[in-house]
Amino acid sequence: MKIQGKVALITGASRGIGRAIALELAQQGIKRVILLARDRQKLAEVAAQIEAIGTAATIVPIDLTQTIEVNIAVAQLWRNHGPIHLLVNCAGVAYQNSFLQCKLPQVQEEISLNLLGMYNLTSLVARRMANHRQGTIVNVSSLMGKIAAPTMATYSATKFAILGFTQALRQELAPYNIQVQALLPSLTDTDMVRGFQLFRWVIPMTPQQVAQTFVAGLQRDSPEILVGWQSHLAVWCQRLVPWLLEPILQMATPPAFRSKQPNLLSALTQKLSLITRDLLLSRNMVSFVSARK
Ligand SMILES: NC(=O)c1ccc[n+]([C@@H]2O[C@H](COP(=O)([O-])OP(=O)(O)OC[C@H]3O[C@@H](n4cnc5c(N)ncnc54)[C@H](OP(=O)(O)O)[C@@H]3O)[C@@H](O)[C@H]2O)c1
Repeated sequence: MKIQGKVALITGASRGIGRAIALELAQQGIKRVILLARDRQKLAEVAAQIEAIGTAATIVPIDLTQTIEVNIAVAQLWRNHGPIHLLVNCAGVAYQNSFLQCKLPQVQEEISLNLLGMYNLTSLVARRMANHRQGTIVNVSSLMGKIAAPTMATYSATKFAILGFTQALRQELAPYNIQVQALLPSLTDTDMVRGFQLFRWVIPMTPQQVAQTFVAGLQRDSPEILVGWQSHLAVWCQRLVPWLLEPILQMATPPAFRSKQPNLLSALTQKLSLITRDLLLSRNMVSFVSARK
């Protein structure tokens, strides 16, 4: 997608990754950004920074879980600033908890915002994009949408679902000239993860790094935009040696949430013995079949 001269609607734009994406798009010469989140004051501050770059900015202080408000806001936005060429579904919430101690209101909040809020806004915007026969939608998932991690069960579930939703829409909306992509940040230094017990060995990215990778992926129309070498490594590891990932993840899990010290060596020996057994079995099978011929 070419950014210059376009109008973008970015949710979760008052802080963190959404704010960084809005600023990066402005730097790249987008015509207008529409900033959506609940905090009016923070949105106004981001809008002022964007206008200082020379890009028009509109703020929409609403709660994405309030479907009627969102419906009215989208109709007004399309009338006043449409067509919207780019929708970035970035607003999200995450709670870290051992599953056995998880709290239902938090689970409900994660599902209502990360999934239903995104779903509702996307359907309102996509219908209008389809009439206009042009548009790009980027759904912000996470590396945890590919590799689920202990202590983040509901969050991972919502982020896996976002990837499935994105894949389906990508095919369904292609005839209307609408591109659908997913952005998969890994751990990023934002308010969301403050107070989290972090996984070992993971080096946090900055929101600016995520935003720059986002813009590069947007221009290439990548179906899934992975952020940082650690994500590429983790996804390749999952594809090539999936059995190795589980003990590594257990070792990386914050100690407070770990049940027992995982043993990488025993996982490796166990896997090797299984591979040897499979090899022997297939050799025996081959000799048996040739003996019967
Ligand atoms: N940080 C990470 O490590 C990381 C890693 C992978 C993926 N992600 C994903 O990246 C996205 C952005 O995360 P972030 O780290 O930038 O989080 P953040 O700093 O906590 O920002 C979350 C944004 O969502 C908005 N928001 C929250 N609830 C809302 C609601 N009900 N209605 C409308 N807006 C709402 C917040 O604004 P208000 O409070 O003003 O409403 C804020 O702008 C999320 O989808 C997250 O899952 C983050």
